[in-house]
Parts: sequence; C-alpha cells; structure tokens
Amino acid sequence: MIELHCRPQHEAPTRVVIGNGALQQLAVDTQGRSVFALVDASMAALRPDLMQPSWTVLHAQAGESLKSLGQAELILRAMATAGLDRKGLLLAIGGGTIGDVGGLCAALYLRGIECWQAPTTMMAMVDSAVGGKTAVNLPEGKNLVGAVHPPSRVYVDPTMLEGLPDVELRSGIAEAIKMGIGLDASLFGILEREHAAVIAREPGVIERVIHRSLAAKCAVVESDLREDGPRRLLNLGHTLGHALEALADGRIPHGLCVARGLHFALDVSESLSAMRSEDAERCRKVLLRYGHQRTALPSVEQLLPFVARDKKAEQGSVHFVLPTGIGQSRVERLRLDQLRALLAAG
Ligand SMILES: NC(=O)c1ccc[n+]([C@@H]2O[C@H](COP(=O)([O-])OP(=O)(O)OC[C@H]3O[C@@H](n4cnc5c(N)ncnc54)[C@H](O)[C@@H]3O)[C@@H](O)[C@H]2O)c1
Repeated sequence: MIELHCRPQHEAPTRVVIGNGALQQLAVDTQGRSVFALVDASMAALRPDLMQPSWTVLHAQAGESLKSLGQAELILRAMATAGLDRKGLLLAIGGGTIGDVGGLCAALYLRGIECWQAPTTMMAMVDSAVGGKTAVNLPEGKNLVGAVHPPSRVYVDPTMLEGLPDVELRSGIAEAIKMGIGLDASLFGILEREHAAVIAREPGVIERVIHRSLAAKCAVVESDLREDGPRRLLNLGHTLGHALEALADGRIPHGLCVARGLHFALDVSESLSAMRSEDAERCRKVLLRYGHQRTALPSVEQLLPFVARDKKAEQGSVHFVLPTGIGQSRVERLRLDQLRALLAAG
C-alpha cells in the first residue's frame, strides 16, 4: 500500500492510501464513526459487500445531472434525516460526480463536516478525489457553485476499475495525460512507453499512473489550494474542454472533452511558438494512442459563450494554460477575440 499526504497551507492534511485492499482498510477505519455514505448506485449493485451495516447509505445515480443544487438539497435532507451531527462523516464512494456533490454537501452541512473519498473511476482516482474542489453545475455553466473542502482521507483501490467501461477508463487517462504534459515528464513517459499495459489495466502500471498523477496534483494543491496561482495549471485542456462538455449538456464524459481541449492547447502553444513542434507531436501521439482524436469542433459562435462564462474567464480574457514542453506549462492571459481566432482555426 502506498501512502501520500497532501498538506495545503492552513488546512488539515489529506491522507491518501493507494493499493489493492484500500477499501477493506476503509471499512476498518470507519468503525466507531457515524457515517453517511453517498454511493454510486451501480457500484453498490456491483460490490454490495463493501457496504457496512453501521453506515447510513444513500444510493445516487452518477452523472452530470447529479451535480445540481436540487440533488444536493435532497442529499443534505437525507443527512439531516439520518441525524448526522458535527462529528459525523460524509463518505463519497463513486466517480467524480459523486465526489464533487458529496464533497459540497460535506462542506455545507452544519457549516462543514469531515469528508472521506473512495474513488471508483479512473477520473476520480487520478484527479478529482484529491484537492478539495467540490461543485455543482448551473444551466449557465459547469461547476459554477462550489466550495473548497479537502477530504481528510482518500482510499484508492485500483481493483475497483475491473468493471469500468473502456470509455470511462480513457476519460480518466485523459486527466493523467494532462498531468503528464503539464507537470510531470516521468508520468508522461510511463503513459507513452507503457500504453499497452495501461489499456490492459495491468495493476502495477495502473497503480504507478495513479500514484504519480496524485503526487503531481498534491504538489500544486499544497502551494495554492484556492487557485490563485499555480493551481491554474491543472486547468490545462479545460478552457475548451468545459465548453464542449457544457455544449453537449454532460452527455460526453468529462475526460473526452478535456482530451480534445488538450489537442487545442497543443495547437495554440505551437502557433504561439511556446512549445517545440517535436514535443507537441509526442503529446498528440500519446493522446491518439489512448483513442483521443482531434475531432472537428463546433462553431466558434456555439463555443464562445461557454468559454466566456467559464469561471476561468475574467474581464474579456481567459487564463489559458499553455503546454511549454513535456512536463511543463504556464498560464497566459488570452483575450476572447484572440481565442475566437484560434478556435476558428482549430
Ligand atoms: N473536483 C475536482 O477536482 C475534479 C477534477 C476532475 C474532474 N472532476 C469532475 O468529475 C466528474 C467526472 O467524473 P467521472 O468521470 O468519474 O464520472 P461519473 O462519476 O459520472 O462516473 C462515470 C460512470 O462510471 C460509473 N462507475 C463508477 N465507478 C464504476 C466502477 N468501478 N465500475 C463500473 N462503473 C463505474 C458511474 O456509475 C458512471 O456511469 C465531472 O463532473 C468533473 O467535473 C472534478
């Protein structure tokens, strides 16, 4: 079992346990605690053995439609009905949508109770379960209502991925590729060299990809929990990714939209001479190896309103993350008219 600690300034640390059997450890660690478990309904059906008789369990249908204020209210009311008090614990078992809404409910209930995350998708294992960003969507845009509320513990058990549909695996891998391109050249190297083993879900390599991705994320989160600076680097690929996702009304998995956004970010970097063409080409090849094509984009008129509404947009410009090498990136302000021209070319 690998252990990681994420220690953001002025916040309690997050202890992350990664390895086969992490969920058995979770069951032991909840003993004696008052637990409200928000559980992905499909997970609960697949692994009923994981649910402990002492927990209050609420099953939820995962997906973007769960990330709404209406659904959050239903969850909060179930927490109140269960009589959860300030010492209670919200445990989110599922993918990123369960973790995001569950984390938000933990942040809001009684002005904040402890949250633990047990991610069950690749997306949640490599990214969303750690870092404390919680959110729900509004019709006007994604993740517009949220709170920063880091979990105190995260239990990552890669054996949970066995039955995950391929498209969801590739969606999560897109976020790992993002960390590799933008932050960690050695993670990029693993994804590049060992793609066949990653696709085949070989436990050793999957565990290394999860470990390196979370370590890269923790390093950024520790220096900037609230996204005033370096944490913006985690938004690589997300300016276009979020717009595509909102335009598709949540019907395309998050990571597939991010992957298309990564292609776009590589094109933008190359066109601004911020990245060597050889490096950009290596990144494109890795994206393609995991099935992430450079698909045709919707029109600029369709995309721009969502780009402009994204929380990364400020006063007519966006903070755009440019990859600058393998494992390197920087944030630059791009004016919306500049972005319009780049989108039209993309
Ligand atoms: N908070 C953050 O820092 C952060 C970071 C990245 C992404 N996100 C958010 O994460 C969300 C996407 O998360 P996701 O991709 O995990 O989606 P998801 O939660 O919708 O799960 C995807 C699908 O996989 C199913 N599933 C879950 N675990 C399974 C398992 N072990 N086996 C089989 N099926 C399983 C779910 O039922 C669902 O149908 C987006 O809303 C995105 O905005 C948040």
